[in-house]
Amino acid sequence: MTKDRLAILVFGATGRQGGSVVRALLRAHWPVRALVRDAAAAKAIALRDAGADLIEASFADVGAVRAAMTDVHGVFSVLPGTLAEAEEVAAGIMIANLAAESGVAHFVYSSGASAGEAPTGVARFDAKPRIEAHVLNLPLTATIVRPMIFMEMLVTPVFGLGQGRYTFFLRPEQAMQLIAVEDIGKFVAAVFADRTRFAGKTLKLAGDSVTGRELEAIFTQAAGRPIAYARFSDAVLAANPDLGHLAASLDNGPLADHVDLDLMRRINPEILSFRSWLAGSGRQAFEAALSGRSA
Ligand SMILES: NC(=O)c1ccc[n+]([C@@H]2O[C@H](COP(=O)([O-])OP(=O)(O)OC[C@H]3O[C@@H](n4cnc5c(N)ncnc54)[C@H](OP(=O)(O)O)[C@@H]3O)[C@@H](O)[C@H]2O)c1
Repeated sequence: MTKDRLAILVFGATGRQGGSVVRALLRAHWPVRALVRDAAAAKAIALRDAGADLIEASFADVGAVRAAMTDVHGVFSVLPGTLAEAEEVAAGIMIANLAAESGVAHFVYSSGASAGEAPTGVARFDAKPRIEAHVLNLPLTATIVRPMIFMEMLVTPVFGLGQGRYTFFLRPEQAMQLIAVEDIGKFVAAVFADRTRFAGKTLKLAGDSVTGRELEAIFTQAAGRPIAYARFSDAVLAANPDLGHLAASLDNGPLADHVDLDLMRRINPEILSFRSWLAGSGRQAFEAALSGRSA
């Protein structure tokens, strides 16, 4: 079955989102070309062993990216979060232009849920709407996905789990939506499976909704000891524009949006709740954060 289909080219394949997409596409019997910077790296070898063809290149190498797009059905584009705004915009536009020139049948761009209409002054938020607008104006069948906050981001040691507390951006009764990285791949595989349904669509991706209070209860139960919840103080949020923007975005910006979780479940019936993710693939990072270490 795999041999009858053209491949899907995946950017960022050794990373969180790209890795999740490769695994889900292979499971759905797509041939996969994984763009990696170092084919000898352990993560690249694991992708090859799982069945992906490796293309060793930087996303900035126009010739290599053009060649990698020859005879593919689809492209999944995601860029690292470490780029300067201008660099991210240029790369995102270049990749989409090459996909349009190459006659790719379905292009999926992973943007961010905090991409809003107004510029925020935070590079990694402001690059994405500019790339989205460009993608949707190309002669290209495209779908934009905007993953909500990664569950993985919540169990890093910086939020205080090691000290028996949890400090985050939410007010105690305020809800936010989350997604497990492994579910991003499953959604993207569902998008590639139904080009007609998802053509031209922008889809926020979420798997669960939790409040500050619920985080306190979930973490307390999972840790087997009390974890008290508090919001970052106004002084801390005012002193750091990045943190302040995230809090404002959760208050009344793009991260305050509530994705229809029933719709999400119909697209990806295996969707993980925060509680089930924490008991499964999130457990190791959670244990590490409880002891004050990074996973
Ligand atoms: N919603 C959220 O909570 C959330 C959280 C974090 C990030 N994000 C967004 O997610 C995006 C990043 O995705 P991610 O977290 O999946 O990334 P990631 O895990 O940091 O992985 C980055 C990937 O990009 C690859 N890469 C870096 N430079 C490259 C180059 N020059 N050429 C080719 N590949 C290159 C890396 O390859 P190597 O293995 O060679 O380094 C790696 O595969 C960003 O847009 C960020 O804003 C969202």
